[in-house]
Amino acid sequence: MSLLNPEWTALLYLFAAVCFILALKGLSSPKGARRGNLIGSFGALVAVVTVFFSMKLENIPLILGAIALGSLIAVPIARKVKMTQMPQLVGGFNGVGGGAAALVSLLELGHADNVWIKIAIVFTMLVGAVSFSGSAITVLKLQELITTRPILFTGLPILMTLAVLASIAAGVLTILTGSWIWATALLVLGLIVGVLLVLPVGGADVPIVISLLNAFTGIAVGASGIVLGNVLLLVAGTLVGASGTILTMAMAAAMGRGVTGIMFGAFKGGSTAGSTTQSDRPVRSSSPEDVAVQLGYAQNVVIVPGYGLAVAQGQHTIAELATALEARGVHVVFGIHPVAGRMPGHMNVLLAEANVPYESLKELDEINPEFKNTDVVLVVGANDVVNPAAKSTPGSPIYGMPILEVGDANQIVFLKRSMRPGFAGIENEILFDPKTELLFGDAKESLGKVLAAVKAL
Ligand code: TAP
Repeated sequence: MSLLNPEWTALLYLFAAVCFILALKGLSSPKGARRGNLIGSFGALVAVVTVFFSMKLENIPLILGAIALGSLIAVPIARKVKMTQMPQLVGGFNGVGGGAAALVSLLELGHADNVWIKIAIVFTMLVGAVSFSGSAITVLKLQELITTRPILFTGLPILMTLAVLASIAAGVLTILTGSWIWATALLVLGLIVGVLLVLPVGGADVPIVISLLNAFTGIAVGASGIVLGNVLLLVAGTLVGASGTILTMAMAAAMGRGVTGIMFGAFKGGSTAGSTTQSDRPVRSSSPEDVAVQLGYAQNVVIVPGYGLAVAQGQHTIAELATALEARGVHVVFGIHPVAGRMPGHMNVLLAEANVPYESLKELDEINPEFKNTDVVLVVGANDVVNPAAKSTPGSPIYGMPILEVGDANQIVFLKRSMRPGFAGIENEILFDPKTELLFGDAKESLGKVLAAVKAL
């Protein structure tokens, strides 16, 4: 007999659902994010414990073993992961969620007694499998284990069309026959669709795809709530699906993209221009002392941080440099691109860590008109987000993405280690602009040297 009656179970599920909503609210600002995470985790714990005490479960040792094994794998990964690798982690965990929903639904096929449940099972399996394999490809791309550029091959659109049609056919046959064979075929086809869907997505668009697949997982989990007759799964999945969809739309809008363009644009044959190799064209390199003079005697300086700043962990040094310049009467602000770094809000989080005042952070629309009045732009470990190819080169993977228009400033200084391209794997013309100087080296080290030179002015 279960310890909790249905009324208590419903009440505890309602409590967990409220926790999830408060978690989302907390996660909507860097200030409330930590609290939001804790509230969400507590809600999940309440939900899991409620299941144990409200249902007659079989195989309890196996379930506990699986939870222990999952925790043993996930906890060290989550603890050790670097901030710059967070999107991979989110992508990976998200994919596993979709895969779990798909497997649970497959197992429920034997218990499905009406056609609506079978439809929900088929839907969960397909969307969950797409999310699992699609997320795996995003992890490989973000970890740069495979190229970050669009992967296209002859026959891809035909293969994709066949895989989608075959999935629909396998889904219909699963509903009609309830057969495991068709259900397994559906699962395999879903995995193939996920891979084919994400392979052609170019590097710069991967963040949007992660968010979209997150929404897919939410929808799959919500549908698995219908399969299992569990209201909380339905609510939690719908919340993830809705918030993932809103984030996807917001990111796509911020990057001047349509979601369908991102997913299917490459099928039309675009997005392959550019080169991943280093250029050997001549550039003007600079020294920390020269950069310090330019910055120290400027009136207006804009700092554009990017992924490289996060890699170098140069946020504290950059904050110190901004303070040192301001002490000399230089007006310093930070230009923040919505997809700078590797996750939404990455630069905001990084700079908040170094106590850079929120008022010094200017968003794209706010800062772009200011560049023409800027004496020096200091681009620290950013590349794609300032690449004019987004405006000038229709075949480019980042074409159409709004950029920080640093080319309008009087002087541009790049801090990077080499002439390697950014995440999208394309050359950046602005590096060869006569107004541009490059200070080669690790961003933190270079910033430290520039800071010392500014203090010595
Ligand atoms: P990127 O275009 O990736 O450029 C980063 C630059 O940092 C590179 O040019 C690299 O050049 C330099 N760098 C790396 N490590 C460095 C270090 N230790 N010191 C100094 N420089 C270093 O970065 P971005 O401009 O921030 O653009 C972000 C890109 O990532 C976009 O394409 C975006 O679509 C994609 N993306 C964004 C997200 C989100 S949501 N933010 C998620 C996934 C992907 P060197 O190697 O020569 O040093």
